Amino acid sequence: MRLTGLISMAALLTLAACGGGAPAEPVTETPAVAAPALADLPAPYNEADLAKGKDLFGRKCAACHFVDKKRGNMVGPNLNGVFDHGTAELANYDYSPALKAFDEPSWTPELIDQWLQSPDSFVPGTSMRLNGIVDPTERRDLIAHLLIASRQ
Ligand code: HEC
Repeated sequence: MRLTGLISMAALLTLAACGGGAPAEPVTETPAVAAPALADLPAPYNEADLAKGKDLFGRKCAACHFVDKKRGNMVGPNLNGVFDHGTAELANYDYSPALKAFDEPSWTPELIDQWLQSPDSFVPGTSMRLNGIVDPTERRDLIAHLLIASRQ
């Protein structure tokens, strides 16, 4: 009896531990556009190396950005759906005045390509601290990964 009591107590505690903390609210709306396949991407992204792009994202972006729609913002805004909205448009992220003033109607792959070459010269005064990615093939692979991962 006593033992059973202890066991159910332990079970309850385990349950409480697992159930505690509601999942974080998604910060972006589910993008209306379904994730494309590599072959569906516009050139030159359809020839990208997605594994390299994913690896580059992990090494160069993931310290400051989530791309998973179930996660929130970090140092940088969540990048889920980034190609489907304009620059500096997430209501729950505090962008720099410089990026707000940049005001492009959408983040196209071409715009992100220029941004990643040198965020600071492309949008002087931005708060994104990234040494530019000089290799165009690296940018291609990274953007191709982002085109797919941001719509998943
Ligand atoms: C050291 C942190 C940091 C790193 C590393 C970083 N970012 Fe950012 N990123 C930011 C911040 C901060 C902003 C907001 C900039 C502003 O408001 O001026 C931002 C903004 C952006 C935006 C604009 C998003 C929007 O909602 O308008 C894009 C796109 C972006 N980053 C892509 C990337 C990619 C791709 C990488 C990897 C190559 C990367 N960033 C690496 C911090 C970072």
